[in-house]
Amino acid sequence: MTSLNDQESSKGLAAHEIPKLFDPIGKASISLEDYKQAHAESIRDPSAYWSQQAKSYLDWYVPFDQALTGDFSAGDIAWFAGGKLNVCYNAIDRHVRNGKADQVALVWEGDEPDDIRRLTYLDMQRKISQIANALHAQGVRRGDVVTIYMPMIPELPMTMLACARMGAMHSVVFAGFSSEALAQRISAARSAFVVTADLGKRGGKSIDLKGIVDAARAKIDCEDIITSVMVWERFFDQDSETAPYDMQPKDVRMDLLVAGQRPCHVPEWMDAEDGLFLLYTSGSTGTPKGLLHTTGGYALYAAFTTKNSFALEDGDLFACVADCGWITGHTYVVYGALLNGATTFVFESTPVYPDPGRYWDMVERHKITQFYTAPTAIRLLMRYGDHHPAKYDMSSVKVLGTVGEPINPEAWRWYFEAVGKSKCTIVDTYWQTETGGHIVTNFPGVTPMKPGSCTFPSYGIDTVILDPMSGEPVTEANEKGHKEGVLAVRQPWPGMARTCLGDHHRFMTTYLKVYEGYYFTGDSAYLDQDGFHWIVGRVDDVLNVSGHRIGTAEVESALVSHAAVAQAAVVGQPHEIKGQSIAAFVMLTDGFSESESLIKELRSLVRQEIGGFAQPDLICATQSLPMTRSGKIMRRILRKIVCNEVESLGDTSTLADPSIVDELIAKVAELQ
Ligand code: WT7
Repeated sequence: MTSLNDQESSKGLAAHEIPKLFDPIGKASISLEDYKQAHAESIRDPSAYWSQQAKSYLDWYVPFDQALTGDFSAGDIAWFAGGKLNVCYNAIDRHVRNGKADQVALVWEGDEPDDIRRLTYLDMQRKISQIANALHAQGVRRGDVVTIYMPMIPELPMTMLACARMGAMHSVVFAGFSSEALAQRISAARSAFVVTADLGKRGGKSIDLKGIVDAARAKIDCEDIITSVMVWERFFDQDSETAPYDMQPKDVRMDLLVAGQRPCHVPEWMDAEDGLFLLYTSGSTGTPKGLLHTTGGYALYAAFTTKNSFALEDGDLFACVADCGWITGHTYVVYGALLNGATTFVFESTPVYPDPGRYWDMVERHKITQFYTAPTAIRLLMRYGDHHPAKYDMSSVKVLGTVGEPINPEAWRWYFEAVGKSKCTIVDTYWQTETGGHIVTNFPGVTPMKPGSCTFPSYGIDTVILDPMSGEPVTEANEKGHKEGVLAVRQPWPGMARTCLGDHHRFMTTYLKVYEGYYFTGDSAYLDQDGFHWIVGRVDDVLNVSGHRIGTAEVESALVSHAAVAQAAVVGQPHEIKGQSIAAFVMLTDGFSESESLIKELRSLVRQEIGGFAQPDLICATQSLPMTRSGKIMRRILRKIVCNEVESLGDTSTLADPSIVDELIAKVAELQ
């Protein structure tokens, strides 16, 4: 295998010292050749393949007769339609029936390390049933959209599962989003029901979530849409007669409401193609898209990928430390491990609270078997030094996962050696909100690892690199031996999103019509000589800041809502820990001049409109922007300026005013 050691590594420091290829770790269940054969088989007849998996991974109330109908061109993809099942039943009840009533289903660790709760499958079944009854009492019915804006407490996954149980669709909004962003999502989904909590806890600080919900209600048409706001109490006291927050009309004390319900609720039998949830994500326009995931296909894909990518076994304690507000939290905190009857770990705090050993301390104390995080967290913790992971016994861990962006080889190596003691597989899982679960990943014990590469497609996924110009598959390697282009998928898989709520046209034009007959990921990528997949990055106007997906258009539209800003252009710049950070260029309206207070106002405006995680690191105020004579802002030039690649600016002669370039270069140099 050492002959394969000729990849160049993508980024940075001591990269030359890092081996380019690592053999699979642990006892191989199958060989790489077996995987290749099985994979070829899985894409040869996807209908037959997934039909078999669907029967083995899920319990069906009414069996389906046809696995797949529809195709990419028509955009009418359906999996297992006609089959009926309930995802909550599959995640909880069937395990209670199958002898796991007393097995711990969920371990929660709160912001403070000694704040721990454990719930068995039976506890979960009862509590989720009570929540479903409470939602029903508030008027929630099958098909309704319930917006969830909550901290990472066990009630969050349980509220999601209660929605699934009664056939309502959850729309979880990450609790780091601002009131404006929340209002936008409530209104876009016309969601009459909001479930929240009075406060969240992170790193010792309290976050006034209820206050943010109230602020959202004051916006647009929200209050007209909302009929009920159900408020969990982070520190519920059964004996307190008053709510620990300012109660508004339509507010309901959720803990009290739930406590009054019967712990028994019959699951709704849903069609496999009924909506399971909506999740808003950023695209290249200012309005986030509400992606719809459906019941049967998503559940199968969540269960299947958790089992295979992480080599999940019975009795495992699976820890994905993502927030439930993102797709990673949906698939790998809430659904994946539970559908497999394992135990899932839910984490409320941050990687550095009370100190940068927090993750590893949890691994030791709870004997976590799979640990899943993002490169940004790994890079952050790496900075604090090896002595943190070295303090803990992490021998329980078998697999360490990474997701969200390409992992740089230095961070990979640290994760592998300092955390995994060279004994754990690192799975580099490539996927998206739209894909529902992993689509390119290595498999523990099977696939050799190349730091920075997500390796090979998962089962049932037929990836292809397309030439972005011709839209044809790339067949010729370039001078580096790479087949480079944009990453697409040739045929449907069960976990893929089916539409953007209320805007199927947008779904078609964003994913299925860019390259006719293919699902387009929006990422550029290449295959190396050995067929390993390497993701290069987004080709659209989407940034990846600390693993959070942010549309440049969203940030720009926040900035131009300020009277002083005539035009704004947002680009990404490399950042050592966050991967990318945001650089904003704002062209001031006549009569306004640059000042420190204006820059501050603009920062807080982005915080207000989107959330703190979308704040620009650099804001450069200017009297003009590099524009073509037809008035198009040339972001390419701005990108080069912030990346300090001014020697390769390319042709600037088409600019209306080429002199602005030097001005901006000087200005940015000063600000950086
Ligand atoms: C984008 C999707 C899917 C959960 C988290 C992000 C990038 C994701 C990897 C990886 C390289 C990755 C892509 C993708 N991405 N995982 N392992 N290697 N890039 O979900 O917010 O929908 O973002 O994240 O650019 O398109 P998301």
